Amino acid sequence: MIGSGGREHAIVRALRRDPAVTDLHAAPGNPGIAELAQAHEVKAADPADVTRLAKTLGAHLVVIGPEAPLVAGVADALRAADIAAFGPDAAAAMIEGSKSFAKEIMAEAGIPTARSRTAGSQQEADDALREFGPPYVVKDDALAAGKGVVVTGDLGEARRHAAACRRVVIEEYLDGPEVSLFALADGSTAVPLLPAQDFKRARDGDQGPNTGGMGAYAPLPWAPPDLAADVLDRVVQPAIAALGRRGTPYRGLLYAGLALTSTGVKVVEFNARFGDPETQVVLDRLGTPLAGLLHAAAAGDLAAAPALSWLPGAAVTVVLAAEGYPEAPVKGDKIKFTDYAERTGAYLLHAGTARGADGTLVSAGGRVLNAVGSGPDLARARAAAYEVAERVRMRGGWYRHDIAARAAVTVRE
Ligand code: AMP
Ligand code: GLY
Repeated sequence: MIGSGGREHAIVRALRRDPAVTDLHAAPGNPGIAELAQAHEVKAADPADVTRLAKTLGAHLVVIGPEAPLVAGVADALRAADIAAFGPDAAAAMIEGSKSFAKEIMAEAGIPTARSRTAGSQQEADDALREFGPPYVVKDDALAAGKGVVVTGDLGEARRHAAACRRVVIEEYLDGPEVSLFALADGSTAVPLLPAQDFKRARDGDQGPNTGGMGAYAPLPWAPPDLAADVLDRVVQPAIAALGRRGTPYRGLLYAGLALTSTGVKVVEFNARFGDPETQVVLDRLGTPLAGLLHAAAAGDLAAAPALSWLPGAAVTVVLAAEGYPEAPVKGDKIKFTDYAERTGAYLLHAGTARGADGTLVSAGGRVLNAVGSGPDLARARAAAYEVAERVRMRGGWYRHDIAARAAVTVRE
């Protein structure tokens, strides 16, 4: 496993549950992951360094968590060395690495998405902002670690963001609830996972700045039952076919970020990897052993894989963030928690943690921990997740209080 966040901890946890996994290594990992997998140092975005480590370990499968190694060509290098890799080649990962490339693929494949323009100068940006009007949606055309998108009613802010980026995609605002749908892909066959929803804004009531995601839940009790099948047909398969036609087959996880608008499902973004924190809830519900699935995707064998099984009930995750996140997270704060697991049946995943010099657990990133709870329905899953979140003590730590709140009420009524 390559990576070090909450998503990677969730993936490692699911791999650990797979009886086919005999040996599990993580690089660089984090203190939570290190309890489940042997940790190694690696330059995660350096194809040669990752390949060296995989060879040394005799790895049968390398799962690449974050986007930066994918865009840097880590999967290409592993495959060139005959090592199975879960994650697209650099050329296919451009579906996340460049917003304009993603738009090209969508146009070519007839995938529904927001109308957009790519702007390389302030003049072009101003023209596009005028064309689409407020709320303004301005996206950095390069990878920006979750900070590239500004959605604002303030024209000045929209113009400043465009000016700060080399090239931007400016697009029409999409109204309606957002859904994340992940699909495993092996170059031609794609298998959808459970639809999930994340909470992008920092504060309760969807206020505050955009973040990497402050919480998530799955499944979506309010979503149409054929949502995954519909998105597979109209979004995922066409995208994979288009990439295949270009000679850059997509092997790995294709993440479709969707808006359910009044005129149907539209793509907000594609990512080339599992989403964070949606993965934490989706994998909590997965009954099928994960390693076999990821290996089948890497090996081009998904068509022969058994149908996925999902545990009944629901899962919720709440992100515990550091003081100052997302603008300027404070690091190095001590983390303490009581023994929560036995009492609640829920658990904590490590996202941005490290061991201090004396071995104590400290914060090391903006999103520090993920409290995950599950239950027979969303209301009970949510209660379990919050019970764990409340047991964490960290100076300046905070979380949203309304993750899955509306959806849980819908179910109860
Ligand atoms: P992205 O990185 O493209 O997912 O954008 C981050 C977030 O910005 C999305 O999850 C949405 O909440 C918001 N966003 C992006 N594009 C649009 C759009 N066209 N209309 C409305 N909100 C958007
Ligand atoms: N949860 C949003 C993302 O992973 O990009």
